[in-house]
Amino acid sequence: MSALRIAASGRPLAGDVRVPGDKSLGHRMLLFGALADGITVVRGFSGGADVCATLDAIQRLGATARLDGDTVQITGAGLELGTGRDVRLDCANSGTTMRLGMGLVAGAPGQCVLDGDDSLRRRPMERVAEPLRAMGARVETSGGRPPVRVAGGGLAGVAWTLPVASAQVKSAILLAGVRARGTTTVREPGASRDHTERLLAHMGARLTAADGVVTLAGGQRLRGADVALPGDPSSAAFLVVAALLVPGSTLRVRDVGLNPTRTGALGILRRMGADIATERVRDEAGEPRGDLVVRASSLRGTTVGPEEVPGAIDELPVLAVAAACADGETRITGAAELRVKESDRLAALEQLRMLGVEVQASDDGLVIGGRAGRPLRAGRVRASGDHRIAMAFAVAGLCADGGVEIADPECVAVSYPSFFTDLAGLGAVVEDA
Ligand code: S3P
Repeated sequence: MSALRIAASGRPLAGDVRVPGDKSLGHRMLLFGALADGITVVRGFSGGADVCATLDAIQRLGATARLDGDTVQITGAGLELGTGRDVRLDCANSGTTMRLGMGLVAGAPGQCVLDGDDSLRRRPMERVAEPLRAMGARVETSGGRPPVRVAGGGLAGVAWTLPVASAQVKSAILLAGVRARGTTTVREPGASRDHTERLLAHMGARLTAADGVVTLAGGQRLRGADVALPGDPSSAAFLVVAALLVPGSTLRVRDVGLNPTRTGALGILRRMGADIATERVRDEAGEPRGDLVVRASSLRGTTVGPEEVPGAIDELPVLAVAAACADGETRITGAAELRVKESDRLAALEQLRMLGVEVQASDDGLVIGGRAGRPLRAGRVRASGDHRIAMAFAVAGLCADGGVEIADPECVAVSYPSFFTDLAGLGAVVEDA
């Protein structure tokens, strides 16, 4: 297995870049397009391994899809998608493919086994299986985890309250609800990302979403849509923090998704003292987007409470790196979900200690002592197959005297295949270790 060393060159980072198309929206466009009538076109498709797993899944379920450059054209199978099929879906590393996929296949009479790689096989699936069973699907997990077997069809709507805010679980229930008799209602304790609600509405579904409650009538047909994906704000976050931390840097990231349920990290960084502006903000397909303009800034520690976690869930690893280079202590609580992501991210982030950072993980968070003014120590870390851990520690490398070696960097291809090339393009040192 290869290793890369990431370090600062001694000069500021500078650039005007685009990041790959949004992963969350990409999955949803493919899944909803497969379930819709007519043609759906997805532009700015990232080609990341996660969304490619979803692209493969919808074809196995009976939709037609053609990938040409960064554009996918899907001919939907309508509400009949998957009917009568007996299929096995390889969801690879992708929790979104599996969880939303479970909701999708539950809606049609047919048999489906959903499986994934070793990381996905460790992740909890009962949180989706339970509501789908309550709707009438037969769902068997393997001790709560993948592989998962779903026998779908004949669903009835449900009123379900999520114990933890989760866009994946909410979306799985709503996807099943599209093909259920009667009304489906999902209530969540915090505001998770709302792409499913916005996109279903854009594709012609009538639903209401207010005060943490989403209601959808079953049996509605979706119409295909043509959407250019905005850049993924979760991918942009790595470049944004890199530019904040390397003195003198300036960066523009063009056309990034600015859905308010995804911009929590920008708010946290600004509170830490970050100079991040948004420009050319506009709306497309019900989703706000615009450029991020970033200038290197001195950061101070902050407190991130449970109410802020859903809006910054995927950015917490890189926020931990920002905190490690800030002045003073940062406390993150209410983030137990990080223990069941692609890796146990709280445990993975304790590797900051090897870079000289005082860090302590608890059951649901982290306390990080910032080293402002003192560089991190050089070191070697493991990404443990987790794309966001690999990218977060690559950013840490820019602040370490001698850089950071990442032992298994290939996993960035899950969401951001060109990450290391883009980082080098901004002026970072990226070399074989
Ligand atoms: C996602 C929702 C989040 C997020 C994941 C993508 C989605 O997961 O961490 O990367 O696209 O719905 P949870 O729903 O488990 O919070």
